[in-house]
Amino acid sequence: MKLKNLKIVGKRFNLRKFRMSDISSIQKHINDKRVYKYTLKIPHPYSLDDAKKFVHKTSYKWKTGKAYQFGIEVDNEIVGGISLDKIDKDNQSATLGYWLGKKHWSQGIMTEASKMILEFAFNDLKLRRINSGVFKPNKASARVLEKAGFKYEGCRIKYVLKDGKTYDQLHHGLLKEDWKK
Ligand SMILES: CC(C)(COP(=O)(O)OP(=O)(O)OC[C@H]1O[C@@H](n2cnc3c(N)ncnc32)[C@H](O)[C@@H]1OP(=O)(O)O)[C@@H](O)C(=O)NCCC(=O)NCCS
Repeated sequence: MKLKNLKIVGKRFNLRKFRMSDISSIQKHINDKRVYKYTLKIPHPYSLDDAKKFVHKTSYKWKTGKAYQFGIEVDNEIVGGISLDKIDKDNQSATLGYWLGKKHWSQGIMTEASKMILEFAFNDLKLRRINSGVFKPNKASARVLEKAGFKYEGCRIKYVLKDGKTYDQLHHGLLKEDWKK
């Protein structure tokens, strides 16, 4: 499989590499307090310059195999992102993360996107284990993981400090042998 121009084609949307021409759609959908609220690395407010730096970084990480960050493309527009970060070759593991523009929430998009990226992670990258952590109040995200087959593995107390407030983090994992069971 060629990673360079990889595009994962779905029925309702595609997953593909971010491009510099996506920066205004990224900003349009991510510059939203509701998207920012339970995420760790998204600045708010989010400028076009933030989007530019982000796309640049994704391209570097992709090339070096540190992370695979995909844009979620609906009708030729990027409306969200999903990624395998912290690729750990020694342990054959990675961390799943995602965000989606509010207009597209609750239509099953992220569950489907997670299933698509898991195929890539287990079949193509030959990973063994995928991790994911969610802020405890982020019920929608925990539900996505559950629907994608992840197991809840425990709660890290006051693990995250965001905007002066602490949050418990719910840790989830999925092993290749439990996937699709
Ligand atoms: C989390 C997020 C990606 C979910 O994407 P999505 O495409 O709406 O997810 P899906 O539609 O596939 O599934 C969402 C599930 O959560 C449920 N849900 C949504 N809000 C909920 C709430 N407040 N309480 C309980 N369940 C909730 C939905 O009903 C759905 O479950 P169902 O299919 O059993 O009905 C999206 O809300 C988002 O981008 N949030 C902001 C960024 C973020 O939090 N990222 C994750 C960081 S860990």
